[in-house]
Formats: sequence, structure tokens, C-alpha cells
Amino acid sequence: MIEIRNLHVKIADTDTMILNGVDLTVKAGEVAAIMGPNGSGKSTLSYVMAGKEDYEVTEGDILLNGESILEMEPDERAAAGLFLAFQYPVEIPGVPTMNFLKAAMNSQRKARGQDEFTTPEFIKKVKDAAGRLGISMDMLKRSLNTGFSGGEKKRAEILQMSLLEPKFCVMDETDSGLDIDALKVVSDGVNALRSPERAFLVITHYQRLLEHIVPDSVHVLYKGRIIQSGGKELALQLEEQGYADIIAKAA
Ligand SMILES: Nc1ncnc2c1ncn2[C@@H]1O[C@H](COP(=O)(O)OP(=O)(O)O)[C@@H](O)[C@H]1O
Ligand SMILES: [Mg+2]
Repeated sequence: MIEIRNLHVKIADTDTMILNGVDLTVKAGEVAAIMGPNGSGKSTLSYVMAGKEDYEVTEGDILLNGESILEMEPDERAAAGLFLAFQYPVEIPGVPTMNFLKAAMNSQRKARGQDEFTTPEFIKKVKDAAGRLGISMDMLKRSLNTGFSGGEKKRAEILQMSLLEPKFCVMDETDSGLDIDALKVVSDGVNALRSPERAFLVITHYQRLLEHIVPDSVHVLYKGRIIQSGGKELALQLEEQGYADIIAKAA
């Protein structure tokens, strides 16, 4: 599904390296978690997957189903089945969430050579998905993410994810941004969307999220490298013992 090969990344127009040879494979049907102390390069990895221009890949590759995504524009990546959820979702004042969702779905369908949804088709899809996620139609009339609570932003994000039916989802859930409500929204949402055809990369600072989204593999990123990989028990071990031991061993 996704294969990150020897990925080296620097900040564009500088000599500052952030990722120093990341190797990671996530197979279809799997959930991989990336953990690591602040400043390890976790968010950078998700931004590079998104195609953010502030970063430059100097070596290595990212393959989605065998095809490199590095030369694709962000919208082409989305059409290829990549979905990214960020730690700080964008607020779009003046654009009702409904309109945003419709534009996002239809541009993706167009890029995939499918017909755009008619308004009634779209409304039905959104109503079904929103109902399952406990999202009111009132919320969808409000501007995207503007004034949304943390939990509402996460609901909107999961709704977007379920409507776009991506193949590979990258979620950067670092920091303390997730309260209990938001945590539950994200974990229920991801668990509902888990399927043999879909893979997830969940980036998180805390083990807590991984009690709800039980990962197939856990990887520790430190100074731009994966210094340890293991099963779900690795997340527990990190919660109890912190990163110091693993970092000392890798040094
Ligand atoms: N655009 C940027 N300009 C300058 N420094 C950056 C930029 N992006 C990331 N960094 C630096 O790269 C390192 C990794 O950052 P980040 O990927 O946000 O780590 P994490 O998400 O693991 O906390 C940090 O030291 C951060 O300050
Ligand atoms: Mg981060």
C-alpha cells in the first residue's frame, strides 16, 4: 500500500535536514502508529506526504501502490487515494462545510474520471454519513471549522474522510489537542473505516489514542529516523518508561 523508502527531507532553501532516512511500509488493512518526542519530524513526514512546498526531498521515495507520489500535486495525491488530517485543521470563513465537502468530493470524482454527484445524490450521501457520526445538519451549514470546538473539527474531518473513501489516511494527532470527546470521535471514526483495502498512518505523541485505535505496528521516530519498531505493546512500554531507554539504545 504505502512504502516510504530511505526518505531524506530538508527544509526548502536551507541545509537543515529534518528526516534522515525513514523506511516504513504500511500494508493494506493495517494501522501503523508513529510516536516520538517533540521535534522528531513526525509532522514533517505528514507534510511531505501532503506535498507541502516548504520541504524538499533530497533522497528516497514515497510509493502509493507502487507509484511514486512525490511528483504529484496535492490534488493528484488526493485523487490517488491519499487523505491527510492535520493537527491544526484549516478554518475557511464564509464557506459552509456542506459546500466544501461537495467541492472536495466532486473534484476528486472528476480527477478519477467519474461523474460529479448531483445535489440530491450528494445530500443523501452526506446525510447518511453525518447521521452515523452524530453530526447535525446545522453544523454542516456553518463555515468550515470556523468556531468549531475541537470535537466538532474532528467530526468534520472524519466526515470528510468517510465521504472521500481514501485508500491511505495519514493523521497527525500530536500534542494535547484531543480532549476525551475528540479522542472518541477520531478513534470511533478510524475504527469504523478500517477495512482490508485501506491503511492508516496515525501519528501521535500519546499512547492514549492507541488504546482506542489498536495499531498493527508502532514506530518510534527520533531525529528524523525510525529507531525502533514493534507491535502495539511498544506504545504501552513507551507510556510507562518514556523514550529515554530507546533513545539511549539507538545512540
Ligand atoms: N518549516 C520549518 N522551518 C524551520 N524548522 C522546521 C520547519 N519544519 C520543521 N522544522 C523543525 O524540524 C523539526 C521537526 O519538526 P516536526 O516535524 O514538527 O516534529 P514533530 O511533529 O515530531 O514534533 C523541529 O526541530 C522543527 O523545529
Ligand atoms: Mg508534530
